[in-house]
Amino acid sequence: MSMSKEKKAYNRTIKIEDEEIPSIKSRLLQINSKQNLEDIINKTIYQPLEEIVNFLPEECIDLLFIDPPYNLSKKYGNTKFNEMNNNEYEKWFEGWFVKLIPLLKEEASVYVCCDWRNSSAVFNVLQSYLNIQNRITWEREKGRGALHNWKNNSEDIWFCTKSKKYYFDVESVKLKRKVIAPYKIDNEPKDWEETEDGKFRITFPSNLWTDISIPFWSMPENTDHPTQKPEKLLAKIILASSKENDVVLDPFVGSGTTSVVAKKLNRNFIGIEQEEKYCIYTEKRLLIAETDKTIQGYFNGVFWERNSLHDQKKEKMKLHETFRLDLKE
Ligand SMILES: C[S@@+](CC[C@H](N)C(=O)[O-])C[C@H]1O[C@@H](n2cnc3c(N)ncnc32)[C@H](O)[C@@H]1O
Repeated sequence: MSMSKEKKAYNRTIKIEDEEIPSIKSRLLQINSKQNLEDIINKTIYQPLEEIVNFLPEECIDLLFIDPPYNLSKKYGNTKFNEMNNNEYEKWFEGWFVKLIPLLKEEASVYVCCDWRNSSAVFNVLQSYLNIQNRITWEREKGRGALHNWKNNSEDIWFCTKSKKYYFDVESVKLKRKVIAPYKIDNEPKDWEETEDGKFRITFPSNLWTDISIPFWSMPENTDHPTQKPEKLLAKIILASSKENDVVLDPFVGSGTTSVVAKKLNRNFIGIEQEEKYCIYTEKRLLIAETDKTIQGYFNGVFWERNSLHDQKKEKMKLHETFRLDLKE
């Protein structure tokens, strides 16, 4: 199975050489009986969720992140997910979702990704089992234009908790924004600071996220997975809703974003994925994360606005180092 395609010099999409595949595959886990947490922690389980969910240990998960197939006909590797009517999708979702609830610790948080089509079905299930705390909407930045409809440019993430008592660290997810109207009081900046890159204010995060970029070819986190989530998005969720050494579970881990960001932020992780190709991406990214802990758009404990000067400068420096680009370009 060759996973390395010829790519242009600027293209930083993760490449896996054929020679690497056997050793990467040997890191994957397959299970067929009840497991203890120590057996599956910091691993990628290469099996369909439905096949193994009853083998997972109970009450050990601090944060559950779910990015399931949305209700669209779409091919993931060798398997096609077929669009259903809303009621069927709700039943499908609830079928495996109920089996994840016993795995949660009492103070656990749960985040579920959706688009506008499946959001109501997911909400119906979530409200039966959990406390819904909020709905985050994030701007996808890119989206295909439609002649007879509004361009589909946003997604939802339902934020829920198992009980009313839960961990939430707002300080860790503050946003650094450019100041448009730099008010001063007694000639001193009001709530903002002057830096070498301009005037910035540190703000509390809202449930509308406009600072996220979908991974694309010039980003070092990019893979060929068709619906890869950005590391920056996972970083916000993991920082806000888990502590160091907590356990984060992603039952549809795809290219591994959740596991990789958990590792970069010193959390434990468990990823489940039914496609071997995506499990291999996950493990390759985990290997890279052993030495590279950077998360694009998150520096010095704050999240920077999309395309902020600092972000661009840093990226240009990296491109320069890698490809010897002329920095004036
Ligand atoms: C929306 S994608 C998740 C993408 C992921 N968040 C990322 O950043 O790469 C859903 C993933 O679930 C996988 N999947 C679909 N059905 C599954 C099942 N029954 N068990 C395990 N994985 C499944 C698909 O192969 C796909 O990679």
